[in-house]
Amino acid sequence: MAIAEGILHYFSGPALWHPILQSDSVLKSNLSYSGFLTCTKNLKGSRGKRNLLKFDSCYRRINYVPPWRSSRAKRLGCLSSDGLNGPLYSSGDDEFKPNSNDVNANLHVNEVISSEKLAAAAAKSEKALRVNADSIEDEAWELLRESIVYYCGSPVGTIAANDPTSTSILNYDQVFIRDFVPSAMAFLLKGEYEIVRNFILHTLQLQSWEKTMDCHSPGQGLMPASFKVRTIALDSDDSATEEVLDPDFGEAAIGRVAPVDSGLWWIIMLRAYGKCTGDLSVQERIDVQTGMKMILKLCLADGFDMFPTLLVTDGSCMIDRRMGIHGHPLEIQALFYSALLCAREMLTTEDGSDEIIRALNSRLFALSFHIREYYWIDMRKLNEIYRYKTEEYSFDAVNKFNIYPEQIPPWLAEWMPEIGGYLIGNLQPAHMDFRFFSLGNFWSIVSNLATPTQSHAILDFVEAKWADLVADMPFKICYPALEDQEWRIVTGGDPKNTPWSYHNAGSWPTLLWQLTVACIKMNRPEIAEKAVKIAEQRLSRDRWPEYYDTKGARFIGKQARMFQTWSIAGYLVAKLLLAQPQKAKILINEEDLDLVNAFSSISANSRSRKRSRKGHKRSYIV
Ligand code: GLC
Repeated sequence: MAIAEGILHYFSGPALWHPILQSDSVLKSNLSYSGFLTCTKNLKGSRGKRNLLKFDSCYRRINYVPPWRSSRAKRLGCLSSDGLNGPLYSSGDDEFKPNSNDVNANLHVNEVISSEKLAAAAAKSEKALRVNADSIEDEAWELLRESIVYYCGSPVGTIAANDPTSTSILNYDQVFIRDFVPSAMAFLLKGEYEIVRNFILHTLQLQSWEKTMDCHSPGQGLMPASFKVRTIALDSDDSATEEVLDPDFGEAAIGRVAPVDSGLWWIIMLRAYGKCTGDLSVQERIDVQTGMKMILKLCLADGFDMFPTLLVTDGSCMIDRRMGIHGHPLEIQALFYSALLCAREMLTTEDGSDEIIRALNSRLFALSFHIREYYWIDMRKLNEIYRYKTEEYSFDAVNKFNIYPEQIPPWLAEWMPEIGGYLIGNLQPAHMDFRFFSLGNFWSIVSNLATPTQSHAILDFVEAKWADLVADMPFKICYPALEDQEWRIVTGGDPKNTPWSYHNAGSWPTLLWQLTVACIKMNRPEIAEKAVKIAEQRLSRDRWPEYYDTKGARFIGKQARMFQTWSIAGYLVAKLLLAQPQKAKILINEEDLDLVNAFSSISANSRSRKRSRKGHKRSYIV
């Protein structure tokens, strides 16, 4: 203990330990990040500065562990995630003989596929084939545990995919924030809380890095898309290594996409942790409160936008490639709404919170009104759009966004059932993206962004369109696929997003858990049960793929990883929740009575305005 404290003191001074230092001024420290090696240099050269990387890195020595097994790093003694208990230090002799070649190999692991790995793959595949339906859950638990990533001996997350056969790991050996959510839920529901707590606190520390992309720094408060635990050699001592958390805020991600959803999921997870464990001490911590406020500040900041929806670039969520979802995509709005509600429950009312709570409340109201009114389509609304007048210049325009009826795609006129409806994918001036996006619709139900009537109608829609949305494997990420010229223009000819593959209407088993929460909320669990039964027939046999291809989800995705953790965890969460539906409460937001009242008065006002307008005011045409 004394040694470790000394080390910490050396780097940062004792003040770093105090959570209050995670306040804005400290969080805006001068640490510049452009790859972990730079940071490591910063670390070593910034003695005495309040460099948060130091908070994360800990002195330790470790034997090289093959990358896909690095999660099993031995406990050597490090800082705890909250930085309060102080580091532990042990000095087992066998743990102090690193092989520097191996350490370097650990830094360039992506290309390496060893024979050991292939043997492991063969064993794993064989095992997967042997499993019968009854033990699918056991197998899933075993695989989920194997995917755990350790940092300084403590579990901090789960690797995105643990596929030993894959020839290009890319960043699937990292812990993705969004991918960890179903893992976190599975662990919480199982009563295993430590990993979730560690994840929350460690990612919080990463949030405060100043990150740069070609000299530009994105907003403070951004949470990384993913992080990796790296073992690096110490300059000062050849025989010693340390573990560092190396985040990716999008500056290394394919396409340099901004992970807008990460911070939103983080808030949702924080609330679920508190609700499930009853341990509110985490959310009440000053650093956690500050982290939450930083995310909110970033999302609630004024911009040029006319809409209350969050304006983002393409690929800023689960669909993290160009797919024509820039602007105001539904998934981000549903997560945003959910995170605002969750944060409102958790924010402590100390000095300085009033303003943010006021901003949050007015945004909640405006956002739900906007989505419920303008994103909703069903047969009646489609017919209304079909007969829209355009070019209305007035405050009372019916066709506020100047949607040309010709935009209604031919497939939709056929596809829309008589009963049911859904929230469209995106709304911009003169543009409605009529595609059905599953996650956005499910989470609109869960978060209560959709009204109860709309929520039921979405589930009616899912039932009516089962053959398209579920087919052989739940659940289509979106529907329909972009094809031909549209695919070329919208995706830029992306060969990974060909029609009915991957993000372009591929089928993603992980979506099972969000579907399940939505169904439980609406008291219609039988829909999710049916979907789980379908998934069970193939998931284990197919080795838990990341996604499926073709219109009917018949093929395993062309570039899909096997043993994709969120496919495994998503299945487990669905099973656990169907067995104990009341536990879904940790994720669900209930209807807000203040909002309901405000809505009824706004609707009454707009009805009376419409009546008084008849035959009097004219729209101005320009
Ligand atoms: C893909 C998915 C993304 C996910 C990542 C890791 O890039 O599109 O949503 O987080 O893989 O599984």
